[in-house]
Amino acid sequence: MKKINLIVILALFLFLAGGLAEGFEGYEWMPEGGCQILTSLNRSDLLTLATTNKTEEEWEKFFADTELTEEQVKTLAAYLALQMPVPKNKLPPNVKELTCDVLPYDGQMVVLKVCQNCHGLGQVVLQEKDLTAWYIQIGARSHNEIELDEKDSQLIVTYLSINMPVSEEAIPEALLESFMSY
Ligand code: HEC
Repeated sequence: MKKINLIVILALFLFLAGGLAEGFEGYEWMPEGGCQILTSLNRSDLLTLATTNKTEEEWEKFFADTELTEEQVKTLAAYLALQMPVPKNKLPPNVKELTCDVLPYDGQMVVLKVCQNCHGLGQVVLQEKDLTAWYIQIGARSHNEIELDEKDSQLIVTYLSINMPVSEEAIPEALLESFMSY
């Protein structure tokens, strides 16, 4: 009996630990948001970057010669320009602790949180719109109920205009079918 309890507790622990580490589980097919891109670079100067004030264009130049794709550079630059600088005393000093749990949230995170409340992501990820068209969409009458401040709106429209539509090949088949069925 005792042994079984232990196993259950251990399984639960592993499940929770896994769940925290894999916050984006199930969304791997979606283009990464700025924070995921930033932390995936494994840079030792993360703390400096997070406390630096630069414009979008300046950030784009800064990351131009990295292994990132053009879309990733743009996504990252838009994120950093909107969310940085963070005051140094609000961040852990150890670079290993600078994860997306402590860094400011990015456009993908707002989309995942806000844009699946009334309909599925299928309404969102297959659309091709520019910045203005996304602004119009989220400002539409049907979207009046959503309360977004200016920064969250900008995070959403920059992320979406750079990264949408997601190519159908990138989306798991069963998910794509569910997107198409309504
Ligand atoms: C309060 C409910 C609600 C939320 C939250 C919501 N939507 Fe919608 N959305 C709707 C409704 C209702 C429609 C269908 C009517 C329409 O097209 O405006 C829709 C349709 C859409 C469409 C399809 C329009 C078309 O031409 O087919 C897009 C794109 C869209 N939403 C984007 C978003 C995004 C991005 C977010 C997150 C910021 C979001 N929605 C969150 C209610 C919502």
